[in-house]
Order: sequence, then structure tokens, then C-alpha cells
Amino acid sequence: MKQTYLVTGAAGFIGSALSKKILEMGHSVVTVDNLSTGNKSNIPKEVELIEGDCQSDLIINKLKRYKFDAIFHIAGQSSGEISFQDPIYDLQTNTQSTLLLLKLCEEISCSDFIYASSMSVYGDPDKLPVSEHADCNPKSFYAVGKLASENYLKIYSNKHLKTTALRFFNAYGPGQNLSNMKQGMVSIFLSMALKSNKINVRGDPNRFRDFIYIDDLINGIWSSLNRKGSNFEAINLSSGKKTTVKEVVDCINNNVFGDIDINYSLGTPGDQFGIYGSTEYALELLGWKTEVNFIDGMKKMVRWAKEHLDE
Ligand SMILES: NC(=O)c1ccc[n+]([C@@H]2O[C@H](COP(=O)([O-])OP(=O)(O)OC[C@H]3O[C@@H](n4cnc5c(N)ncnc54)[C@H](O)[C@@H]3O)[C@@H](O)[C@H]2O)c1
Repeated sequence: MKQTYLVTGAAGFIGSALSKKILEMGHSVVTVDNLSTGNKSNIPKEVELIEGDCQSDLIINKLKRYKFDAIFHIAGQSSGEISFQDPIYDLQTNTQSTLLLLKLCEEISCSDFIYASSMSVYGDPDKLPVSEHADCNPKSFYAVGKLASENYLKIYSNKHLKTTALRFFNAYGPGQNLSNMKQGMVSIFLSMALKSNKINVRGDPNRFRDFIYIDDLINGIWSSLNRKGSNFEAINLSSGKKTTVKEVVDCINNNVFGDIDINYSLGTPGDQFGIYGSTEYALELLGWKTEVNFIDGMKKMVRWAKEHLDE
């Protein structure tokens, strides 16, 4: 049966890809986007756009006339650095929005809420790969806001709502914003390499991350609709693989021009040193794991970036 979903942030990297997937599955999508980091041109034309902030009462009131089968709250700002520059903005855009949308869910009797959380909630974990049972020690206001949102989800799950916090690790791939130099390690480095044949790395090249290709991430998000269990769950969407910053730079170097000038400088505040995720819980609850390895994913990303650099 045709379903209707709210996907917030459909003008952005992940929200637009998720909307495309949902349309391909034959369903309808409504989105709220304030176009702060997203582009209208990313929103598939079949998607109904309500332009504005997710944390605005006016927008929330507009959403009350719909009967959503699930809400995917993807919109948000995803820069740790910006969260330090403007913590109130971060709180409103990432956390207040979550609380208001959960309240909406209850009011319109929508029973499924899926949230774009982040691996940043863990901080620097004691044990790797980090599992969902590990302590959370956020190092940035961004991560504090994501963890607070998760806790709102947990409380709302006691109100007969199924709530799922998906802890995204570092997403990359075609569709990522190549002009936003505040978010997305791969897109930032790739954009620098293609535009100036130079990469400025802020922080230690031995730092490491867990990169997840956009198609894998979208399949993970989609599979969470039919996950096992009710109430609240927090689930890693990760590849389980460790890739250092240096490996990312080398990979770009090998796939772009092969002679890139690399500079290293001081890191950004609240940056985690190294993290990669355990994939077991996602496999158990979602029956999902990643399929695209980093080198193959990067080749596709570089090809796409060369064609779309000036857009
Ligand atoms: N990309 C990643 O690697 C990653 C990792 C962890 C978590 N996340 C989370 O996933 C979500 C999507 O990330 P993305 O990479 O697609 O970012 P993005 O910037 O490409 O997309 C975010 C979209 O949300 C919109 N938006 C932002 N604040 C809004 C608000 N208050 N109201 C309405 N619209 C708003 C933007 O205009 C944009 O279209 C974010 O919540 C982010 O924190 C992303």
C-alpha cells in the first residue's frame, strides 16, 4: 500500500537520497527544509516541500494536516565547529526540532520516528569497534544535542511510539555538497583537491574514521522501518572498517591528479581522535550491513565530483 512519509532535510545530501529511495519504492514524501545548507534542486520534483525551520511552531502546525506513516528526521546542521560558534543555533536546529517533531508524532498518531543521530555521541571510546552499549561522552555541543535528541526519543518511546536513533558514521558519496567547507571530510578534501590541487588537513593525519557510502547508508535507514523490537533503539550505521585521514588523502591523490600538495595544521575543537563502529547490532536488528568498500566508493565519488564541481 502507498505510504506517506515525512523526510526532513530533503534538500540535503542524505535527505535527498532517502527521498529518492522512498519514491522508487512507490510511496509519497513530504519534506521540511529551510535550505540553510541544502539546495532546492536536490529535492526530487515529486516531493512536496514545506519551506521553513523544523523547530518553528508555524511549520509544525502546517504538518498537522498530514497522516504520516513514519517520520524520518534527517534535517540538521552537522558541523561540530559551527556548534561551538553558535551553540544556541545548534540546539534549536538539531534538538528543539526533534522534540517538536516527536510531539507532532504523538498528536497525529504517527507510530514510527527515525532520527539521524551521529557517532559523535560516543566521544573518544575506550574500546573499538564501538558498540551501542558503550558510554556516550560527547565532545562537542553538536554531539550533546544529538544525544539529548536520542534521550527525547527514549522518553517518547514509552508513549507507544517506536523510536529509532540511527548513529550515522561518516557518510560520503555522490550528492555530497562540494562547496560547504564546514562539513564532510571526504567532500571537503576532494573539493580542495579538484579546485586547487591542494588539501589542507586540520588535525592529525593518524586520526581515523568509519566511512559509509551513501547507498549503503540509505539502505540502512530504509531497513530501520521494519527493524526488530518496539520502543527505543540506538543503532550504529557503520561499515565497521577503520580508515585513517592519511588513507583518505592518499586515496584522493591516487584518484584525482596524483600530485596534490598536502598541508597539515591544527585540528578543530571537539574533534574525535579515532572511531569505528561495531556492525553486529545493525545486522541483528535490521538485517543490514554495508556492501561498498571505501576504495570503490571513492572511485564513484571522484567520478561524480569531477562532473559536478561547478554546480
Ligand atoms: N553526513 C554525515 O556524515 C552525517 C554523520 C552523522 C550524522 N549526520 C546527520 O544527518 C543529517 C543529514 O546530514 P547531511 O549530511 O545530509 O547534511 P546536509 O547539510 O546536506 O543536509 C541537511 C539538510 O537539512 C536542512 N536543514 C538544516 N537545518 C534545518 C532546520 N532547522 N529546519 C529545516 N531544514 C533544515 C538543510 O538545508 C539541508 O537541506 C544531519 O542531521 C546530520 O547531523 C550526518
